[in-house]
Amino acid sequence: MAVRESIHGQWSTRWAFILAATGSAVGLGNIWKFPYITGENGGGAFVLVYLLCIAVIGIPIMMAEVMLGRRGRQSPINTMETLSIEAGHSTHWKYLGWMGVIGGFLILSYYSVIAGWALAYIRESVSGVFVNSTPDGVKGVFGDLVSKPWKLIGWHTLFMVMTMVVVARGVQGGLEKAVRFLMPALFVILLILVGYASETEYFHKGLEFLFKPDFHALFHVKDANGVEHRSWNAVLTAMGHAFFTLSLGMGAIMVYGSYLPSNTSIMQTSFIIAIADTLVALLAGMAIFPIVFANNLEPGSGPGLIFQTLPLAFGRMDGGILFATLFFILLTFAAWSSSISLIEPAVAWLVENAGMSRIIASVVMGGACWAVGLLTVFSFNIWQDVHLLSGIKIFKDATIFDLLDYLTANIMLPLGGLLIAIFAVWVMSREASMEELDLGNGILYKSWRLLVRYITPVAVIIVFMNVTGVFNWLSSIAWLQALFGGQV
Ligand code: TRP
Repeated sequence: MAVRESIHGQWSTRWAFILAATGSAVGLGNIWKFPYITGENGGGAFVLVYLLCIAVIGIPIMMAEVMLGRRGRQSPINTMETLSIEAGHSTHWKYLGWMGVIGGFLILSYYSVIAGWALAYIRESVSGVFVNSTPDGVKGVFGDLVSKPWKLIGWHTLFMVMTMVVVARGVQGGLEKAVRFLMPALFVILLILVGYASETEYFHKGLEFLFKPDFHALFHVKDANGVEHRSWNAVLTAMGHAFFTLSLGMGAIMVYGSYLPSNTSIMQTSFIIAIADTLVALLAGMAIFPIVFANNLEPGSGPGLIFQTLPLAFGRMDGGILFATLFFILLTFAAWSSSISLIEPAVAWLVENAGMSRIIASVVMGGACWAVGLLTVFSFNIWQDVHLLSGIKIFKDATIFDLLDYLTANIMLPLGGLLIAIFAVWVMSREASMEELDLGNGILYKSWRLLVRYITPVAVIIVFMNVTGVFNWLSSIAWLQALFGGQV
């Protein structure tokens, strides 16, 4: 087959792609989200499910996504349409591309607000407010930031403008170069933090929390009255996070793959990206939980977790002001190199289909996304008691931000991943995927095909069904109950 070319250009080298995709993968998901959802879902067992999902679902889906992108060489919507025509199937598959565009847009709306917190913390760190601070003092700084809508709007606006500037200039311009040294720098500073944590007497307790599985905690949630309920929700959260942290299910990696030179090994690059991403998350967890336990903080305290723990460590270290400032600068950069990949599919589509220039397309999408971001801004202050779905047990106390996060990370990403898997092995021809992956017809190709053909779809469907209660409903049917001994 003649190889298609992308109108948006191509990565200069294989490393440029690896850096950009790692830049997309490593972000707030690793450093902000992974620790706090691990804290909320009981630790070890949650981490184990997350790691398992990365290995058996994440990496194969990443390969599938890069493969589709490279073959289609367009925005996800047009790529899906082109490839479904090529395979002789319905062009309805383009709606999968649409879901990706909408999902990335929704994620960016709240991502930008949280990245704004990181920006705000650069200033706080420079001011020295964290030096020798107490847990209450640090909590106070965080509370003061999120309780003021105007402050949050200011930082959110700044971050969104930063994102739009890079997207408007094209991916190869500034960021490809910046990521080259920022990612290693982030890694080093995380190592310093882990080094600090390892000297506290709570290091062991932190590691135990992260790596010692407690399956009871995974399958049970406590409600506000302290009553326990059985729930698969934590498993869904772990699976959703595997997609989130690797930037999968939304076409972001697909669009990056569409700029990938043809002679690059998709499997090798996918492994490198997934391993780097997982390491960063685990290091962040190892830095944070010892501090949590040493200061008697609550692991399940929610989205503010890193902002209420790390400053305590910085405040007590030699050179703390410098390290704190550096850390929040690097966190901002990590978020920045992720945010551009959230909006790139939408911008690429506007350029292809509405004939807009990259600049106009970026301004239009950025402006709209900024406006939706206000929902998240207000979720932490004036609307913190607005619980739109309070009638549903698991959403009883959920704010609009919580709902947006749940809708995107727990529903849209796994669903997107499921459909990508189905497309890659059930719709696309075997010849096409063999040609693109270039693994021959040996054990590697066959294992990939097996995972994507059966394991991924079945895993996603089982988890979805458990969460939505379909299994509870089925288990009320007597003969099924007898068959499974009441275990469903
Ligand atoms: N992976 C990024 C993080 O962990 C977030 C992200 C960037 C993302 N692009 C994405 C998530 C596309 C889902 C889909 O911070």
